[in-house]
Amino acid sequence: MSTRFRETDRLQISTVGKVRSQLRTDVAFGLRQSQKTLPPKYFYDAYGSRLFEDICQQPEYYLTRTEAQILRTHAAAIVRQTAGASLVELGSGSAVKTRLLFDEYQRRDHLLHYVPIDISASMLEETARGLLTDYPTMSIEALATDYLAGLTVLPNTRPRLVLFLGSNLGNFSPAEQTELFQHLAAYLHPGDQFLLGLDLRKSVEVLEAAYNDAAGVTADFNLNILRHINRELQADFNLAQFSHLAFYNQELHQIEMHLKSEVAQDVTIAALDLTVSFQVGETIHTEISRKFDAQEVKEQLIGHGFQYQSQWTDPDNRFLLSLFRYTG
Ligand code: AVI
Repeated sequence: MSTRFRETDRLQISTVGKVRSQLRTDVAFGLRQSQKTLPPKYFYDAYGSRLFEDICQQPEYYLTRTEAQILRTHAAAIVRQTAGASLVELGSGSAVKTRLLFDEYQRRDHLLHYVPIDISASMLEETARGLLTDYPTMSIEALATDYLAGLTVLPNTRPRLVLFLGSNLGNFSPAEQTELFQHLAAYLHPGDQFLLGLDLRKSVEVLEAAYNDAAGVTADFNLNILRHINRELQADFNLAQFSHLAFYNQELHQIEMHLKSEVAQDVTIAALDLTVSFQVGETIHTEISRKFDAQEVKEQLIGHGFQYQSQWTDPDNRFLLSLFRYTG
């Protein structure tokens, strides 16, 4: 872990693990599979993180708006039940929604200690600067890494509230979800809490529209994974020859995003010394976004040593926030 202190001692940014070498391994592995795949975490370079913020503003993408509405309506109850905790956020991004909780903690004079964990170091730094200005008593220990690595080095100052918002869990496979819950159980202490935001199952039309916005932002976000690889691994993906595909798989209850090759083509990834051939119509599977049955997740967390505390939803039952306490 390498740590930098910034301007004031209120901000510390640490990088955990070797992000670049992980990218090489993941790309080499994923593009050699018969169904080619790339892990969704590689959407999020500086540009991709901004595109994601833009997706959240699209009229079709109801997730962010709905979760923010729940947080706004129930901030007082959430803060009452989590008083005194350090806030650890997995996949913090711009932390716009988290501000709804910060505001409420600040109104109650709680000392704010925030541990954002995000793959994008540039996003962490930009977000942290804004927060330090707006919350004069906040201190930040940012971790630039993926969730699992971040959980292994959590600061141990006071009870922790781990926030996993935005239905980020949806981007995990069931096996990765189990691994995350095992990690939480291994690294949390009894008394720590977990606030989980989940997108619930709903009509195919609403779901598919959310991942096929008319402005084409999600399409650009999907293609950005190729831009990222072109830059970092000296590849020559021609973005004009791939198109965005997103549809709902009703059996697995998940949106699946792919990049479809519009022509037969060879792509060279110089840094890996690899040439990848695509047939017309062949796809790279870039993301799943699972939609949840709240009861199933609750039971699974209980099985990992969590106790259910509370839950909050919106009037249309689109999205759910659930609070758990780790009891060990
Ligand atoms: C971050 N994650 C929860 C988003 C989602 O809805 O699965 C990522 C995203 N992919 C396409 N649009 C948004």
